[in-house]
Amino acid sequence: MTISETAARVREEFTAAIADAVTLETLEQVRVAALGKKGPVSDLMRGLGGMSPEERKEAGPLLNNLKRELGKAIEARRGALKKAALDARLVEERIDVTAPVRPETVGSVHPVSQVLDEITEIFADMGLEVAEGPDIETDFNNFTALNIPPEHPARQMHDTFYFPEQDDGSKLVLRTHTSPVQIRTMMGGPPPYRIVIPGRTYRCDYDMTHTPMFHQIEGLVVDRETHMGHLKGCLIDFTRAFFEVADLPLRFRPSYFPFTEPSAEVDIGCTTSGGKFRAGHQGNDDDGWMEILGCGMVHSRVLANCGLDPGEYQGFAFGMGIDRLAMLKYGILDLRAFFDSDLRWLRHYSFAALDLPSLGQGLSR
Ligand code: PHE
Repeated sequence: MTISETAARVREEFTAAIADAVTLETLEQVRVAALGKKGPVSDLMRGLGGMSPEERKEAGPLLNNLKRELGKAIEARRGALKKAALDARLVEERIDVTAPVRPETVGSVHPVSQVLDEITEIFADMGLEVAEGPDIETDFNNFTALNIPPEHPARQMHDTFYFPEQDDGSKLVLRTHTSPVQIRTMMGGPPPYRIVIPGRTYRCDYDMTHTPMFHQIEGLVVDRETHMGHLKGCLIDFTRAFFEVADLPLRFRPSYFPFTEPSAEVDIGCTTSGGKFRAGHQGNDDDGWMEILGCGMVHSRVLANCGLDPGEYQGFAFGMGIDRLAMLKYGILDLRAFFDSDLRWLRHYSFAALDLPSLGQGLSR
């Protein structure tokens, strides 16, 4: 048999084997059998060495061609097999997008969290930053530094939860308001301060509108020229944004807090027609007022207690109950339900996770 006859036979044999290979594994076996070191092509090539130059001139290109052709045929087959495998997987793993979804439990946002987010967002738009402090406070931060010395009658009004006496005779408390974070902020560095302080607060009290744990949000703005006009503007803008009533009437009623002077309580105009609370006045007999927060100019003694010079700095503070605002805004009658963890109640009053005001929901500002 001449070398070209042998080459033709090898080509024929392996071309058929390549076509017959239906998996990538068998194709690889064919490749090794045809082109591997022990295969016929390598065998024939090894024979080149014993040939005369003339023979080699003819046989060399012939064998190179054979090797290249078989190599190409294997690659082509490999490509085809891979595509077929992919097509098969696509058919097999097809997703039926019309199949019904499995029921999943979706969490939702508690009304307190929702209202806290709404309030924080409004004050953030005014340039106030969030500050926080611990639930367990020193008597000094919760009372004394806020101008409520030990025998002050205001202490009785706070229904404080005290911890057992410490070695030095002092007692830690569950903070009765968020105001101690004012002290922490003012003692922590120099003014200006522009902060809101949301958080849990505690008083020993329990009825329709009081729970032992509740939530407050506090504001503190101190700078060289901060005055009462700023306080009023800030709270007018806030209440209008929060209750979504553009001309919401507001009343600043003189009041008393040990840590502010002058102090005021703020009422919003509301109506209770049909027994339901609604923010804003309607111009009829059901128009009334609802107290929603306390505020005032930070007392000079509080500034001094924190090492600030009241001749140089002044500012305002305000504080309000988040739960109470949530009750008013969303028509919830009993505060205690907030903390009962009753799933039926939560499903009714909670919010979808993406209903945040920043996503264009809720507030008309
Ligand atoms: N801390 C007061 C309270 O709990 C609210 C308040 C805060 C009043 C700041 C004035 C200024 O009732």
